[in-house]
Amino acid sequence: MEDYNLTLDPSVKGALPPDFHWGYATAAAQTEGAWDRDGKGESCWDRFGHTPGRIKDQSTCDDATRSYDFYREDVRRMKSYGATAYRFSISWSRVVPLGGKDDPVSRSGVQFYSSLVDELLASGIAPFATLFHWDVPQALDEGYGGMLDRERYVADFSRYARVCFGALGGRVKRWITYNEPGVYALAGFAAGVHAPGRSSLGETGAGGDSGTEPFVVAHTQLLSHAHVARMYREEFRPAQGGSVMVALHGNWSEPWDASDPRDGEAAQRAREFEIAWFADPLYKTGDYPRCMRDQLGDRLPIFTEEEKRLVLGSSDFYGMNSYTSFYVRHRDEAPDVADHKGNVEVFDENKEGVSRGKESDTPWLRTSPWGWAKLLRWIWDRYGVPIYVTENGTTAKGEHDFKPEREGDVLEDPHRVDFFNSYLTEVAKASQEGVVVKSYFAWTFADNWEWAAGYTDRFGVTWVDFESEEKKRYTKRSAYFMKELFDHLIKK
Ligand code: NOJ
Repeated sequence: MEDYNLTLDPSVKGALPPDFHWGYATAAAQTEGAWDRDGKGESCWDRFGHTPGRIKDQSTCDDATRSYDFYREDVRRMKSYGATAYRFSISWSRVVPLGGKDDPVSRSGVQFYSSLVDELLASGIAPFATLFHWDVPQALDEGYGGMLDRERYVADFSRYARVCFGALGGRVKRWITYNEPGVYALAGFAAGVHAPGRSSLGETGAGGDSGTEPFVVAHTQLLSHAHVARMYREEFRPAQGGSVMVALHGNWSEPWDASDPRDGEAAQRAREFEIAWFADPLYKTGDYPRCMRDQLGDRLPIFTEEEKRLVLGSSDFYGMNSYTSFYVRHRDEAPDVADHKGNVEVFDENKEGVSRGKESDTPWLRTSPWGWAKLLRWIWDRYGVPIYVTENGTTAKGEHDFKPEREGDVLEDPHRVDFFNSYLTEVAKASQEGVVVKSYFAWTFADNWEWAAGYTDRFGVTWVDFESEEKKRYTKRSAYFMKELFDHLIKK
């Protein structure tokens, strides 16, 4: 067996409360497959995957892991892994194939999610449902530009949300309206490397205006979230209980030169551009951070006073998606098109040559629990809302070469085991210090379609044979380790 560091830190034994939820997170487009079956409408990611040159390995999400067909087996496996919660996303175009507020609802689409929820509950796994994990119905993008037309989009999204709350809300108690709205906005409308692939930057260019559209799209997500949250609270919560939140992306930014105050400010600016962009409006001020307004001027949309009141406090909890940390250094000039960190430069090593962490199979992702520990406290100190870790995880080198011979073969993944052990030990320590953390969802249950990276990035604790018709699953060692780890961390 390969070298494992399986030491469970004795000082964090029982550090997490008995009602702590843990399990795995997934997204519809990355796992379900069945992209056009049983009346499902096309999504922007179906279209993007079918557009030549957009996906690294030229793959599509037509089949993905086929969880649409195998969700029962998956839930059984998840239960055997010890998970107590599962975060999945609902595909809008499976529920409302054409997406619009007056378009028909697909009964088989609703039925699919309803059966999934029943299966989870019967297995003692709490369902956490995400309404939007990046897959806009193509008909809306094509019809009026999707999120670029706020008024029409808000009406359509609200109607879709209403259908979901109505059909599943009695059984689903935790709703996540948006997953990583900032990544959707920037990758889809600035860089153009994600659907819908809009960019004016040249290389990937397919129209659009990379300098303004991401901020419009972000604004639309914040406001549509707030409308939907109000609707949920007024119309559904009284009878159903439950809560609604947003899952925000954000990695830790650390000054490149710890002794240079300008790098200290740059690191804070990077956190604000990346995280406070959404978190300040939702939890702190109802408005965007000052540094963004200063740098972006009128490229950043303006909230009316009424909108500020609507947005502030509209997310019950802080949904935290985070993976890694970076060193950042001040630079004077703002980039032409603001990336997600403002006017900073990003490095893998600091001034002293200290690396941000051990490399994974994904260029941006390194194991850096030191930054994760700081981020947990930064979020808690700045916003003071209970944190649900909605995503965290890693790829590991060499997993493509795994050649299972028989049922029950286990892939050894010490890199991932070490990642989870170190990150979760930090969650437990933060919790001991009073940071309120209520869940942890590892990304992800099984290797899946990693967007523009196709099937080249394997994030799962389950290895998937994508060559096989039935997308055969094989357990990785980390799946067993997670159970042991949570047995250690959660108070009995
Ligand atoms: C964040 C996204 O929400 C998820 O869809 C993606 O696969 C993971 N990060 C890994 O990149």
